Amino acid sequence: MSSSVLLLAGLSLLPLSSQAGEPLRLIEFQPGGPQKWMSRTEMDLISHAAHKSGRCGGYMDVTDFPSSEAMGFVEALVDFDKIQPTHEAIVQPILQNVDASDLIAIITHLSNQYNNRYYNNSASGVEAAQWIKAEYEKIGAARNDIKVELITHRKFDQPSVIATIEGSGPNKNEIVVIGGHIDSINHDQIFYKSRARAPGADDNASGTATVMQTFKLLVDSGFKPNRTLQFMGYAGEEAGLLGSQDIAKKYRDQNKAVVAVMQFDMTMLPESTPVVQLINDNTNDSLNRLTGRLLDHYVKVKWTLSACGYACSDHASWTRNGYSSTFPVEAPISAINKTIHTARDTVDILNPGYGTHFLKLAIAFAVEIAQPAQ
Ligand code: BES
Ligand code: ZN
Repeated sequence: MSSSVLLLAGLSLLPLSSQAGEPLRLIEFQPGGPQKWMSRTEMDLISHAAHKSGRCGGYMDVTDFPSSEAMGFVEALVDFDKIQPTHEAIVQPILQNVDASDLIAIITHLSNQYNNRYYNNSASGVEAAQWIKAEYEKIGAARNDIKVELITHRKFDQPSVIATIEGSGPNKNEIVVIGGHIDSINHDQIFYKSRARAPGADDNASGTATVMQTFKLLVDSGFKPNRTLQFMGYAGEEAGLLGSQDIAKKYRDQNKAVVAVMQFDMTMLPESTPVVQLINDNTNDSLNRLTGRLLDHYVKVKWTLSACGYACSDHASWTRNGYSSTFPVEAPISAINKTIHTARDTVDILNPGYGTHFLKLAIAFAVEIAQPAQ
């Protein structure tokens, strides 16, 4: 019997009916795979037990997105295999301004100023999103091609945040997304998650800082993209990729031309030898190859392909809606930072230098994909 079956069998012995009245949620463990109705308590117990045993207990909450078939792929707008790093003259000067302490300042604020960034029934979860929006507004204040918005979600309190640098010229309707989740969770506290301390420094203030600082360095450099760039902070990832599913589905329904999506979720693993992992399930192979070329050319860090084994982060929401995504992450699932989803995921144990590799990659990705070869 597989360990997940054992886990589910064990859970069925727990007094889940004591949570009577909890609305059931429709859960999918693999995009397009079998679905199961579960209570939120059951879902939390699965995540908790899986993480305690050094694995992830990923699931997608597809209650509001029940199509069991992943949507057909949107026709590729660009052939990623044909893109070679060509915008050296724009990228290199921006890379000179990468500084780990800028990332640490953002992570320190997000992990220390808020008790948690939980997605529902938590005032601090909403305040963190508002702070991120205000930071984007400050950075973009002098430019009329920049707009910042909170995306409210119907079913939970925390909004997502989107900062846009509008493209100019013939490709301005094509969108390049750089994103990561802004919420945090404490799985040690099964019943009072909305009040539990969840600093979420590595998971995922680190990815959020990467996305925000990419925006800042691009704006500071005066970069004006040809394609439209969107910087996304997704709400409710830890509760089943909720914010990113809402956004990706809306984009697909509106036929938005999203060219490529890069996800940042965990970039500063403590005590690590840097080997960036390119997640090769629920992502696009040819976009992953391009990400590898950007790492070789601009970042000069070792990388390897590895599998999450399930829809482990927001990239999967884009993939499920037919778009091309890529997800570089700090470590293989087997060597996951053991403090995540606890009160011990704090800034003091992070490896700031490692995080700069992801920031450099995001800058190279934004410029190289937002400036099509003429
Ligand atoms: N950051 C984690 C996932 C992760 C861990 C990815 C290590 C790659 C390496 C993410 O925030 C998370 O915890 N996801 C949930 C799944 C989600 C769909 C509820 C998980 O893994 O349990
Ligand atoms: Zn995460």
